[in-house]
Amino acid sequence: MAFLTDLDRTYTTPEDICAHVGDEYARFMGAIVPPVFQNSLFVRPNAGNGVEDAGYVYTRASNPTIDIAERKIAALEGGEGALCFASGMGAISSAIMHFARAGGHIVLVDSAYGCTLGLIRDYLSKRFAVEFTNVNGSSVEEIENAIRPNTTLIYLESPSSMLFRMQDIEQIARIARERGIGTIMDNSYSTPLYQQPLKYGIDIVCHTASKYLGGHSDIVAGALASRDRDIITSIQDYERAWFGNNMDPHAASMLIRGIRTLPVRLPQHSANAEKVVRFLESDPRIIKVNYPGSATYGQNDLFHKYMKRASGLLSFIPKGTEEQIRAFCARLRYFQNGVSWGGFESLCVTSGVLDTTPEIGRKAFVVRMHIGLENVDTLIDDISQALEVLPKV
Ligand SMILES: Cc1ncc(COP(=O)(O)O)c(C=O)c1O
Repeated sequence: MAFLTDLDRTYTTPEDICAHVGDEYARFMGAIVPPVFQNSLFVRPNAGNGVEDAGYVYTRASNPTIDIAERKIAALEGGEGALCFASGMGAISSAIMHFARAGGHIVLVDSAYGCTLGLIRDYLSKRFAVEFTNVNGSSVEEIENAIRPNTTLIYLESPSSMLFRMQDIEQIARIARERGIGTIMDNSYSTPLYQQPLKYGIDIVCHTASKYLGGHSDIVAGALASRDRDIITSIQDYERAWFGNNMDPHAASMLIRGIRTLPVRLPQHSANAEKVVRFLESDPRIIKVNYPGSATYGQNDLFHKYMKRASGLLSFIPKGTEEQIRAFCARLRYFQNGVSWGGFESLCVTSGVLDTTPEIGRKAFVVRMHIGLENVDTLIDDISQALEVLPKV
């Protein structure tokens, strides 16, 4: 668990926070990159000598390298403190457990990440009698109507990571706060560079740091941040300490390195994705492109209210049969078939998804692409040659 220090608060731009929060040259013998404290235990040779105790006991509880990653994430999200975890699901499950109560009720958006939905629908509900209501999330009234006297949590993910559905964060946070209901939001798609949910009253913001924060597809990691010190302290003392899902210090050092270059990487993902979106939108073989930053995106008002820019993840519904769409993906050379996203590399997955918008209104076969940091014209040429397998009319 780490809270922001007075020095951390002197860094105010995202670039400076990513580069310099946690620099403590005097503490680490002038090392320009802080050392990796790859130790389980902290002994106390000075105990009883009146020398100040650094406060570290055991890495499952806290560790100086993990602290630095946490302070960077807290500062980026505009929080007071943050906690890192062994995975995104470690962060999400700990946040949910903080608010869940046996016999209580959770309102959750049905487009949230699959394992998050599974945790609530299949695990907490069946084993601990936690009730839940699925909502589409596009309408604030729908969420308000789903609230019951025993609701303890509203869980949001905006935009979601397949169809990019968004929620009105500020309105929902206000409604929850008025009723003493907790709110959690998965902000992995945007990262704090493009969207800061805590500013709008969300209690806990969660991340899979395996995606953009890490940025190189070489760590599985998670984090959460909050403005409420009591929430951070409670999750540190209960869920993280007792479920034992803290981040490994080596992963923390890789995460710190990833965060340093986030302000350079993320806009490049966005610029590449925006060009790919323009290309896809002009091709007659594509029925619909889902991308929050596109002018044709159905929730433009929410996009402009909350997000600075859209990132590198997009999806589209092409013409053709399931077999033809699979053949399109197989023909791509630069886009590897893989479920994750947020790394340097371009990826592609297909999935059958119920699209309820008026222009589709049925179960459709969706292609999701993560646009990596390769040359964007090479990527467009690759998509173009693969599109040849799809019908033109
Ligand atoms: C939107 C979103 N949230 C959470 C997770 C879970 O993160 P992790 O795989 O780091 O546990 C994922 C993983 O793909 C995700 O896409």
